[in-house]
Amino acid sequence: TASVEEQQFTDLIAADSRIEPRDWMPDAYRKTLVRQISQHAHSEIIGMQPESNWITRAPSLKRKAILIAKVQDEAGHGLYLYSAAQTLGTSRDEMTDALIAGRARYSSIFNYPAPSWADIGSIGWLVDGAAICNQVPLCRASYGPYGRAMVRICKEESFHQRQGFEILLELMQGTAAQREMAQESVNRWYWPALMMFGPPDDDSPNSAQSMKWKIKRHSNDELRQRFVNMLVPQAAVLGVTLPDPDLRFNEATQLYDLGEIDWTEFHEVLAGRGPANAQRLQRRRDAHDDGRWVREAAAAYAHKMAAKPAT
Ligand code: ACO
Repeated sequence: TASVEEQQFTDLIAADSRIEPRDWMPDAYRKTLVRQISQHAHSEIIGMQPESNWITRAPSLKRKAILIAKVQDEAGHGLYLYSAAQTLGTSRDEMTDALIAGRARYSSIFNYPAPSWADIGSIGWLVDGAAICNQVPLCRASYGPYGRAMVRICKEESFHQRQGFEILLELMQGTAAQREMAQESVNRWYWPALMMFGPPDDDSPNSAQSMKWKIKRHSNDELRQRFVNMLVPQAAVLGVTLPDPDLRFNEATQLYDLGEIDWTEFHEVLAGRGPANAQRLQRRRDAHDDGRWVREAAAAYAHKMAAKPAT
């Protein structure tokens, strides 16, 4: 028989209510949330790299200003999410240590390079577009601090997605070389963006339990499908081709049938053997080392202020 606390937890979940940091929760629920939220936070932080790389090379002052704002938003998302994970009893230092030691996951997508300016468009349109599809339902996640953090994050992601779309639109209305650059970039990002939703449902060990707990509201394949349904009309407006020869509308299901995703590539990236895994992690380690003096100075200052008598 369930304890009173356990019954309360079950009732709150059944009522679509929220679990808050001080509420009792099963250890496995806590562990799953720390896993997902910390991975999500790390993704935001590592995700700054492919784009910040382009800040000095953005083609105009306007593009530079937009890109700086966007990269800064990603840093903010990482910080909200680390804070949400901290309410579950895991310290920021522990999470950071796991990331720089290479023990923590972050989204597969950030292990791909961004060699052309059009990639900034594709990252906004496809990567942030996929992020929104995945994250809008997370605004209703059963854990309060996570769901609430997602609300603001989704609003900002929506701006990111539009700025990416607009970069591609401008390129597609430009010269033949610009159109070619945009299409080439979409060709590289399309499949990895579909992989962001995670493995297929029959190979997703965490989904069933996370859905019972109402952390996840939809399966990986459902959200991937929703994303493609959203992309097809947008691709038509842009005039780009989605690089899947098997993509077609299925009258019977009223959904798009997709070609086969290369899950071997996905597992290689997860195993640390993607095109930019080593570089991303090294950059994060260097940034952590370079920031040591700032952390030390902040700690020394906090110590000094704590020792001062109140005035
Ligand atoms: N990249 C890296 N790892 C992944 C990915 C991915 N795209 N998809 C799944 N995985 C990992 C899972 O973390 C899990 O590994 P773990 O058990 O070691 O944690 C394993 O593959 C099996 O996957 P699932 O059982 O399907 O895992 P889960 O139920 O957690 O679903 C998902 C994965 C959909 C990514 C979920 O964790 C989620 O919604 N996370 C929040 C969103 C997020 O992290 N977004 C980050 C990218 S978007 C951005 O930052 C702009």
